[in-house]
Amino acid sequence: MNIAVVGTGYVGLVSGACFASLGNKVVCVDVDERKIAMLKKGKSPIYEPGLEELVRENIRKKTITFSTDLKSATRKAEVIFIAVGTPPKPNGDADLSYIEDVARTIAREVNGYKVIVEKSTVPVQTGEKIRDTMRLFAPKGAQFDVASNPEFLREGSAVSDFMNPDRVILGVESARAKKVLIELYKPLKSRILVTDIKSAEIIKHASNSFLAMKISFINAIARVCDAAKADVELVSLGMGLDSRIGKSFLSPGIGFGGFCFPKDLAAFIRICEKLGYDFDLLRAVERINEEQKRYFVKRIEEVLWNINQKTIAVLGLAFKPNTDDMRYAPSLDIVAALQAQGARIRAYDPHAMDNAKKLMKNVVFCRDAYEACKGADCAIVVTEWGEFKQLDLKRVKKLLTQPTIVDGRNIYDPKKMKALGFRYASIGRS
Ligand code: UDX
Repeated sequence: MNIAVVGTGYVGLVSGACFASLGNKVVCVDVDERKIAMLKKGKSPIYEPGLEELVRENIRKKTITFSTDLKSATRKAEVIFIAVGTPPKPNGDADLSYIEDVARTIAREVNGYKVIVEKSTVPVQTGEKIRDTMRLFAPKGAQFDVASNPEFLREGSAVSDFMNPDRVILGVESARAKKVLIELYKPLKSRILVTDIKSAEIIKHASNSFLAMKISFINAIARVCDAAKADVELVSLGMGLDSRIGKSFLSPGIGFGGFCFPKDLAAFIRICEKLGYDFDLLRAVERINEEQKRYFVKRIEEVLWNINQKTIAVLGLAFKPNTDDMRYAPSLDIVAALQAQGARIRAYDPHAMDNAKKLMKNVVFCRDAYEACKGADCAIVVTEWGEFKQLDLKRVKKLLTQPTIVDGRNIYDPKKMKALGFRYASIGRS
């Protein structure tokens, strides 16, 4: 199939590259000329395992191209995915102006039957708005359908998530659009659920909110475990063994970040409010998440006594491992809170330092974890990168002026840390 994907962020670029490798002809479109120029050279603007290789392979096979020309891409495509940003407005609403712009441009170029698919996370009823905009601006007699196909990929494992989804959700309003999209997704051999457009839109919001709720739930349980001197990792394991609960998304830590959960949660709370439902459960999820970052700083303070004038080695800055994404990373709030109390910060992240440098001030960025720890009073684990789990802890101990680690991701075994002579604190395992 001839496909156009509009927007080359995580969702757009990964979808475009994966559709190309499934045997389609894909053009990825973006208004950002710098990004398109990079992509044409086979360079990915984002760090995502396996993505750059996939882009290069498909450039070689001539199954993927990159362009800033949405009009020409629209004319050539049968299916057009809209994967542009829906950033949050100050009141929590999603800003849908990019989606509207794209829908208008596409509408004017409709020259045969096309399926216009919303892939960005959007408020319920956006599909209707896209359809209305299309009708308003499309030539008379233009043939098209609007559909919703929310994407569930995670950063850090985006390519494999796209290729091996638990399910594909297709929100459609015609048998013709359903046939086209089922055909497109057939090679993935995944369970396909066909719904109406509005239900598909809500599935995305409900899934993200539910996962965020699981994280806040286990973080709240971690607080109880700390107070009761129990072990949250055992509690999480015990809960997860119940197949009705499941073990995933029950890792306690410093709260969720990234560009999806915080933004989508705020947007869904707003959507529900507008629809006349006060989803206060989700407001509690947000509140617990904010508290968790403050709680981590409090743990550091408990261990170090005074934070003022102390040097702290921050291990990990990205909001999760295997990404360079710093958007809504808990590290931003944690470092700011420590600096506000007078701490000096030395930091290291395997991939996110270039992005972090644009967002953090007065931080000494280091070559590796050992350099960050050199002369520091304490090391804190903020992102659970694999390389931190493999650190030579005896060497770390020698480099720190006080053998102190506060672990926001529970990556080390408290007993082993004690045996090594560390003063060690983690989350929900005191
Ligand atoms: C999420 C959804 O998982 C994905 O389906 C959706 O398409 C986009 O949003 P992503 O933000 O890339 O994906 O990462 P995810 O692995 O879900 O982690 C989100 C945040 O939750 C991270 O900050 C992570 O550290 C945190 N988290 C996750 C926990 O604190 N505990 C957990 O058990 C799981």
